[in-house]
Amino acid sequence: MNDPWRRTNISPDTLKIDLKDYLMSDPHRPGEHAIYMPDLGGIWTLKPDTLFTSEWLSYMQKDCLVKVDLAQIFYRAPYYQHPGAHVDIDQEDNLYGGGLNWTIDPDDAQMVWYQTPEVDPEYTQRSHTDRNKEWPLDILTEVGRCTIGQEPTLVRTDIPHTVDMGANERWLVSVRFTWLKSWDDYLNKFNHWIDHEELA
Ligand SMILES: [Fe+2]
Repeated sequence: MNDPWRRTNISPDTLKIDLKDYLMSDPHRPGEHAIYMPDLGGIWTLKPDTLFTSEWLSYMQKDCLVKVDLAQIFYRAPYYQHPGAHVDIDQEDNLYGGGLNWTIDPDDAQMVWYQTPEVDPEYTQRSHTDRNKEWPLDILTEVGRCTIGQEPTLVRTDIPHTVDMGANERWLVSVRFTWLKSWDDYLNKFNHWIDHEELA
């Protein structure tokens, strides 16, 4: 089973604020804002304490034995299509392998993954904590796609990925964890929370 995502049974009852109200009431708070293009898309980085209940943070730490590092928030307007797919890289230029993602509202988009090509990528930096290497979609070969939706889902980020948007506006929370780096780290650490029924 090599699909680049895994459904989990991690509790989605996590947020202590209305995320959209919080961001839209001041989209440019220092330290949080990366990109905001009204009617197109936006990216923000939130500290765990800003977004998540203390109950959920301790549930993650005590039951899942992971520490939440930060949350990336990705907003895209209906039908917005980025022309490239990227891999995530960390501050030391190494590939960064995964995230725990879900959407705030019902999702009609698909996350799409591709083989990493031999061709050199372009480097992009969308925020201090969101650095990428990117390739144009038309040279890539698709390897999988999945509608993420509102169940927390592990997604692979060290092979090229993008989102095919549908008619819905999309607000997605992507949680990143301290100590986890590779996709295998994410699979191993969350093994007991992966919905193995889904794989049958
Ligand atoms: Fe990414």
